[in-house]
Amino acid sequence: MKVAFELNGKAVEADVPVRTTLVDCIRHHLMQTGTHVGCEHGVCGACTVIVDGDAVRACLMLAVQAEGTKVTTVEGLTPPEGLSPLQQSFRRHHALQCGFCTPGFLTTAHALLTEEPDASKERIRHVLSGNLCRCTGYIPIIEAVCAAREAYQKK
Ligand code: FES
Ligand code: FES
Repeated sequence: MKVAFELNGKAVEADVPVRTTLVDCIRHHLMQTGTHVGCEHGVCGACTVIVDGDAVRACLMLAVQAEGTKVTTVEGLTPPEGLSPLQQSFRRHHALQCGFCTPGFLTTAHALLTEEPDASKERIRHVLSGNLCRCTGYIPIIEAVCAAREAYQKK
């Protein structure tokens, strides 16, 4: 079945079996491999992308459900001039080691801070509690997101 949507600001189209998940479509058909696949059943958050402004587990959504939407992956968070303030904050706070979970944390945090630039630390902890990291630990990740709030408040 053909599906057409906007991926990181560009119109894209793919011809996929109907059962194809959005994450497999993005990675294997559209060759944007920044989005990772961990558990494949909605638990780890590694596959999180932003669909029409909402953070979504792309392993739980079918590609055909993305028809007509605007999808943003971690690639789409990076401006042409370099790392975004959120990405810079992750680097500054050592909020990643292997980086496997990082695209999911970045997309989840970006969706949250875009909607709620004044989100409290508790709110950030709560929202990010659905993303699993097996190496860095959560304290630097939370600190990085808290420090990035200012950049979203200025927008
Ligand atoms: S791969 Fe989608 S939530 Fe784990
Ligand atoms: S940085 Fe390795 S899983 Fe999070």
